[in-house]
Amino acid sequence: MVEKGSEWVVMATGRSPTNIAVIKYWGKRDENLILPINDSISLTLDPLHLSATTTAAVSPSFTRDRMWLNGKEISLSGERYQKCLREIRRRANEVSDAEKGIVIKKEDWERLHVHISSYNNFPTAAGLASSAAGFACLVFTLAKLMNLKDDLGQISSIARQGSGSACRSLYGGFVKWAMGNNTDGSDSLAIQLAEETHWTDLVIIIAVVSSKQKETSSTSGMRESVQTSALIKHRAETVVPARTLKMEEAITNRDFASFAKLTCADSNQFHAVCLDTSPPIFYMNDTSHRIINLVEKWNISEGTPQVAYTFDAGPNAVLVSPNRKTAALLLQRLLFHFPPNKDINLTSFVVGDKTILQDAG
Ligand code: ADP
Ligand code: DP6
Ligand code: CO
Repeated sequence: MVEKGSEWVVMATGRSPTNIAVIKYWGKRDENLILPINDSISLTLDPLHLSATTTAAVSPSFTRDRMWLNGKEISLSGERYQKCLREIRRRANEVSDAEKGIVIKKEDWERLHVHISSYNNFPTAAGLASSAAGFACLVFTLAKLMNLKDDLGQISSIARQGSGSACRSLYGGFVKWAMGNNTDGSDSLAIQLAEETHWTDLVIIIAVVSSKQKETSSTSGMRESVQTSALIKHRAETVVPARTLKMEEAITNRDFASFAKLTCADSNQFHAVCLDTSPPIFYMNDTSHRIINLVEKWNISEGTPQVAYTFDAGPNAVLVSPNRKTAALLLQRLLFHFPPNKDINLTSFVVGDKTILQDAG
């Protein structure tokens, strides 16, 4: 390593949008490697309101790895952070900066330490998939800093070990997390089904019903479901494989009616699995149920789906409409039933781009 004293710092900054699953990941077959019991499919959102921005820096003056999340130092000693760091260091390559006169050799990465700072522009651990944006961004940014040559699929497989849903945020547009067959997890990774430009008419509205931290984390909730629910086995083995194929077809054909039916059905089955868990897990609340009712009644009255709804591990509704006109009607209906700032806060999105490099220094 060529050093101009020990004062130099090399940095990389990345930004990752969150993703919303329309076929849900719920349940692991391997807790340690984070291997799921079924495939899942998601939409990556544009990063304006729901994204993580992470800066990673390396310097010989750093004496240990450290991380700050939303301005507060957090411990990196957890196994998930350690796995990501270990795996990225193992695949790191030489980095040189001629201007600064710095060369970091492949083997130097084992002893150099990193400082990481990340900000989420939305509530953390509130059922809005902060772990997805967060770990995607962490892994992507460190991979840039350490000059990994692996393709995005391989990078997604590292992000998966931080949080399962994170692997899908490496790509933009419509993304599948293939569960894979291998016991070492090497084929459990994200695959882009279609770019964000494939279906630009979709408008996504998120109704934030609560931004409070959820009581049951996704990790422990799905563990309890795997241990106690009979329905989850039927879902993973029979329902999701068929549904995933149909969803891929609906996305390819931009078939909104099928897309909406499959999305709503999958959200409802995921929450049914939560209810089938012992003790039962309630992620949705009365407001969530009222939103479902509103959409279902509207869809039935029109004879064909106008809007799709899906809920993650929390009460917040993600609503997908086929175009701007329907999105405007949806907003009107939501505002009528839920006066502004009383029960819900509304934000709109389009299907967005992948994790990007914000800048590098
Ligand atoms: P959520 O519903 O928001 O995904 P989870 O319980 O699945 O909630 O995950 C929350 C955890 O994800 C946080 O406690 C933290 O460990 C991790 N996390 C969230 N944001 C980031 C980030 N920007 N960078 C690194 N890790 C993050
Ligand atoms: C309901 O990815 O947060 O959002 O892998 O344990 O970190 P861990 O869980 P996480 O679970 C997400 C569950 C979900 C559905 C989904 O995103 O597919
Ligand atoms: Co999460």
